[in-house]
Amino acid sequence: MSATLPRHVAIIMDGNGRWAQQRGLARHAGHKAGIPAVRMCVEECVRRGIGALTLFAFSSENWRRPETEVSNLMTLFVDALEREVTDLHANGVRLAVIGDRHALSVRLQARVAEAEHHTAGNTRLRLQIAMSYGGRWDIVQAARKLAAAVASGALRTSDIDEARFAAGLALGELPDPDLFIRTGGEHRISNFLLWNLAYTELWFTDLLWPDFGVAAFESALACFAGRERRYGLTAAQQREADSA
Ligand code: IPE
Ligand code: IPE
Ligand code: MG
Repeated sequence: MSATLPRHVAIIMDGNGRWAQQRGLARHAGHKAGIPAVRMCVEECVRRGIGALTLFAFSSENWRRPETEVSNLMTLFVDALEREVTDLHANGVRLAVIGDRHALSVRLQARVAEAEHHTAGNTRLRLQIAMSYGGRWDIVQAARKLAAAVASGALRTSDIDEARFAAGLALGELPDPDLFIRTGGEHRISNFLLWNLAYTELWFTDLLWPDFGVAAFESALACFAGRERRYGLTAAQQREADSA
């Protein structure tokens, strides 16, 4: 494995609606057209030995979209999970959904639980699909767990540190994303992994998600490989730390 390969890639898959609108199609057609790009990213991560991939599929705020778009998306998630789980399993992918899953339909929750259970023993790629996910929701739910532990006497306030807090977040013990990709031309985080992106390298493209192909993914990886990550240190200090 290359030293400059990210261990964890996080992607905001944006631009499906515009992709469809440009073709005179309903927005839903754009969401459907985005599925091959998801498959490509999973396969590329497996092939390259990237150990974790987190995809933003539906945000806490996306619930406020028109009802038909929301219900079409939920149906698409149910169908896609059903259709893809065999291939994911064959590729050694361990799937998990992160987000407020109780907000999802009972049917979708059941599919998610089945897919997670079916792939739980796999170790090649940890694939997180963020559904009904918001970075602020995540921080609040982690804070609640800690507050409950303190209230019950299981934890002292002084024991709360960054590591303990991070362990309660949706990504749990996974390493923070090294590389963040956003398609669709917007340069913002849109309430994705607020805590975990603290030192992630950011990469943006105007390509709309259904048009995101292998070449674009390779460009993002090449750009990442050329970045100098310093984590607040001077360049000289960081070089010394890297060579230690
Ligand atoms: C991203 O594409 C998918 C979801 C947010 C569910 P959009 O639906 O946001 O597409 P645009 O940004 O409107 O083109
Ligand atoms: C972010 O895209 C959420 C997902 C891709 C799931 P949005 O389209 O919802 O973000 P904004 O509204 O442009 O910030
Ligand atoms: Mg969008």
